[in-house]
Amino acid sequence: YHKTVTLNTGAIMPTVGLGTWKSAPGQVEHAVEYALKEGGYKHIDTAYDYGNEAEVGQGIKASGVPRAEIFLTTKLPNGHHHTPEKALEESLAALDTYIDLWLMHWPAPMKNGKADKSANWIDTWKRMEVIYENNKDKVRAIGVSNIGVKYLRQLLKEAKIVPAVNQVELHPSCSQEALVKECREHGIIVTAYSPLGSDNSPLLKDPVVTTIAAAHGVFPANVLISLQANREGVTVLPKSVTNERIKANMNIIDLTDEEIRELNDIDKTKHFRACRPHWTGWGSLGWEDQE
Ligand code: A2P
Repeated sequence: YHKTVTLNTGAIMPTVGLGTWKSAPGQVEHAVEYALKEGGYKHIDTAYDYGNEAEVGQGIKASGVPRAEIFLTTKLPNGHHHTPEKALEESLAALDTYIDLWLMHWPAPMKNGKADKSANWIDTWKRMEVIYENNKDKVRAIGVSNIGVKYLRQLLKEAKIVPAVNQVELHPSCSQEALVKECREHGIIVTAYSPLGSDNSPLLKDPVVTTIAAAHGVFPANVLISLQANREGVTVLPKSVTNERIKANMNIIDLTDEEIRELNDIDKTKHFRACRPHWTGWGSLGWEDQE
């Protein structure tokens, strides 16, 4: 599956990438190597806070696939809003290669497990802009993650550089139509994380999903991944550390408008991870909801 999108920098991002959140060191190197060598993947997503950047970097090397053919994303951790330069240095050292896309992981500076009100995430973005402008060989694009419509509007008022990407949770219980539309209007690519609904997802057993899967002769996961891959301006990051699933998840199918409607009508009241009705659900940590 070789569909791609073009970022506002002109760079090409493959539509399907391998997610690695919760992919443990010990498993993730193999998953990355397998995805690149056997699975047809050219796009890998990681984050400083996943604690697996070094193994992801090793998996890339072990695959033997030329680095230039691979799109690699990592993210600025919540604990480094005051020190993005240092976080980037550490990510680059762990990955041992350049970064195609560097995202602000959350608009939520944290310290010792609590909201760090001494940091302002829009100021962090401005520092990321400067870092990017001075290090384009090491950081080829910058973007954000977990940003809703309200925060996006605030950011765009102050940003000099429009984020190339906004990576958010997207699946049938969290379709985020308004946000995807807003991003499209600004030329921002939306990347879907947790397209299956993350671990033990009820979406994989949902009768709407299983019926459509059977009709196409594919796995339920293929329906959920294809739902995102078929959206204009959207890319998608299924996570797996299992060979057969890594390979199978690249099987993208065309869905009919009716099937897409049925999928988007699936229960909107549960299965959320981060995208709760009020977005972050981080209230207990001291953050206001985004919308
Ligand atoms: P595993 O990594 O053990 O293979 P998401 O991409 O929404 O975050 O979902 C990831 C979860 O879905 C992981 O628990 C992963 O398990 C599982 N998973 C990945 N691909 C498939 C698949 N094709 N069928 C069923 N479960 C899958």
